[in-house]
Amino acid sequence: MTYATCGKVPSVPGTEIRDLFRCAGWLTNPVPASQESPVPAEEGCAGEQFATPDRLQQVFEASAAIYAARREGVLIGVVRVVSDQAKESVVYDLVVAPEHRGHGVGAVLLELCLRDFGHIPVTLAATPETLDFYRRFGFERLERYPDLLILRRV
Ligand SMILES: CC(C)(COP(=O)(O)OP(=O)(O)OC[C@H]1O[C@@H](n2cnc3c(N)ncnc32)[C@H](O)[C@@H]1OP(=O)(O)O)[C@@H](O)C(=O)NCCC(=O)NCCS
Repeated sequence: MTYATCGKVPSVPGTEIRDLFRCAGWLTNPVPASQESPVPAEEGCAGEQFATPDRLQQVFEASAAIYAARREGVLIGVVRVVSDQAKESVVYDLVVAPEHRGHGVGAVLLELCLRDFGHIPVTLAATPETLDFYRRFGFERLERYPDLLILRRV
């Protein structure tokens, strides 16, 4: 028996995505009611302010593909891909619940992304802690653009 059932899915309930992001430490704590003007989320989906279940589900459903891992019915890992299907695909939000890491789930989810999108360049943003994980799958820093910065309007 495999550790988890992993596959492409049309959708994942937003509450499950939120719970997974929460347990992975991706969401900040809820803003106290007394705080009039909460600090906006620093990054994309991070921050409870942004990450309502509805919004998270919308973000995932607007992606080109979603892959989910379930164990005994519980969502334990997820990833999504945004793609123009021709020039570039981007892997977002790969996360495995902390207590289920080290069982190959993250690898299977990423391999599913590469199975379906690996025929065109795949990019992603990695934290230093996950760089070696991604290297196992052929990802490297873009040496051609060593000074490239990721920018976002703030
Ligand atoms: C990164 C992450 C998705 C890996 O998921 P996982 O299910 O624990 O990974 P796997 O069990 O499939 O690991 C596959 C292999 O990579 C190795 N590996 C896992 N995480 C690693 C890491 N951070 N650095 C180096 N190697 C790693 C495993 O030891 C395993 O090696 P093996 O095949 O020789 O046993 C998971 O740690 C995670 O959710 N981290 C927090 C969220 C995050 O940082 N996501 C990435 C966004 S940039």
